[in-house]
Amino acid sequence: MADTTLMDKLVSLCKRRGFVFQSSEIYGGLGSVWDYGPLGVELKKNVKDRWWHAMVHARDDIEGLDAAILMHPRVWEASGHVSGFTDPLVDCRHCKNRFRADDPRIKGTPGQPDAQCPVCGTRGTLTEPRMFNLMFKTFVGPVEEQAAVVYLRPETAQGIYVNYLNVLQSARQKIPFGIAQIGKAFRNEITPGNFIFRTREFEQMEMQFFVKPGTDAEWFERWREWRMSWHHDLGLAPAKLQWHQHGPDELAHYARAAFDIQYEFPFGWQEIEGIHNRGDFDLGRHQEHSGKKLDYFDQAANQRFLPFIVETSAGADRVALTLLVDAYREEEVEGETRVVLGLHPAVAPIKAGVFPLVKKDGMPELATELYHDLKRRFPVFYDDSGAIGRRYRRMDEAGTPFGVTVDGETTAARTVTVRHRDSMKQERVSVDQVAGYIEERLGGE
Ligand code: GAP
Repeated sequence: MADTTLMDKLVSLCKRRGFVFQSSEIYGGLGSVWDYGPLGVELKKNVKDRWWHAMVHARDDIEGLDAAILMHPRVWEASGHVSGFTDPLVDCRHCKNRFRADDPRIKGTPGQPDAQCPVCGTRGTLTEPRMFNLMFKTFVGPVEEQAAVVYLRPETAQGIYVNYLNVLQSARQKIPFGIAQIGKAFRNEITPGNFIFRTREFEQMEMQFFVKPGTDAEWFERWREWRMSWHHDLGLAPAKLQWHQHGPDELAHYARAAFDIQYEFPFGWQEIEGIHNRGDFDLGRHQEHSGKKLDYFDQAANQRFLPFIVETSAGADRVALTLLVDAYREEEVEGETRVVLGLHPAVAPIKAGVFPLVKKDGMPELATELYHDLKRRFPVFYDDSGAIGRRYRRMDEAGTPFGVTVDGETTAARTVTVRHRDSMKQERVSVDQVAGYIEERLGGE
């Protein structure tokens, strides 16, 4: 399967099955903004729940936070985003399209007569590059004036830094400790694309770990290891995950060291999560700009210091896309193509389909009863329309790991068949045990 075909097929499956829709589609869509449908919202929620569990619930040294999207505008001056969160941009004076100055499709040097527009092909119409800030601006209150400008946050991290003392004190934490947050972020990306990979509105899952200076390198290594294991535990193919270390010319203004976790997408190796050693850049800048002391007193060592920060920053949408790409496969079964999303059962939106084999002989009644029983424990889908093979295929495409069929033997022997999505093998399980049977396997078969 050609790689572009795989993405096209995935986008089409996502729409058909209700994972992801183009935003405002009936108005022609809004560029690089996407909506999650019934299955997509479950998939992304499962990703976020797993992250929250691993980062907050399973640990004693990380607290959760949900800071507001809108923040004081001076936060973004302190963080360096007002002056530095920019991309160089060029316009074509002929076709009015806009590109990043380093767009590989541009031939020649923008601003020079030889430069050629990658869309309309005209030469000499590309402007000199100018810097374009990626933050969305809006206004607080009814007056659209400079004094009322606020930004939609381009990362969730800053909400953590400005709340670091509040959390430290209220949760009675001691350094080393971390703060985790999941939330929306917004970037007016110039060249967005690749479906939900790079969008203008997205969700981040970020954790900032505050440590004593000098211990940062050690914590950085630990966090690298833990975060890579988390991605492996999602069931992603290990051969498709790799590290990318930022060279000196790639490092963000705040970072002393940075590694990306990359996945091999059909459009190449790309970042899904960044791990950064941010040193004392963030707390130092906020201390300077706010005039408030943000240092920490270590009672045991009788020492005051400004903590260093190790950050782990993943995109929930990117992880969801990674799971979909990794899970998509087509197989030939009895002369027909079967499309399967081989999602790990823990992230699958629906855990089981319940099917009466035929719509008579008491099977629909028994299947409905079982459906309600299972639905109390995990998401289940009831389907009684069409041939049983078709119903299985529909669930395969949705990534549902188990199919439970009520048939003639159910009434007599109180057993159902449980069909496994990946192997397509079927087993007979007693009606009373089927919920437990599935629950036991939701952690992975
Ligand atoms: N606080 C650090 C930070 O924001 P980043 O590398 O710019 O670092 C972190 O972003 C993660 O957020 C990325 O690894 C990616 O998963 C996600 N992300 C960033 N920009 C995105 C976009 N335009 N669309 C979707 N996800 C994005």
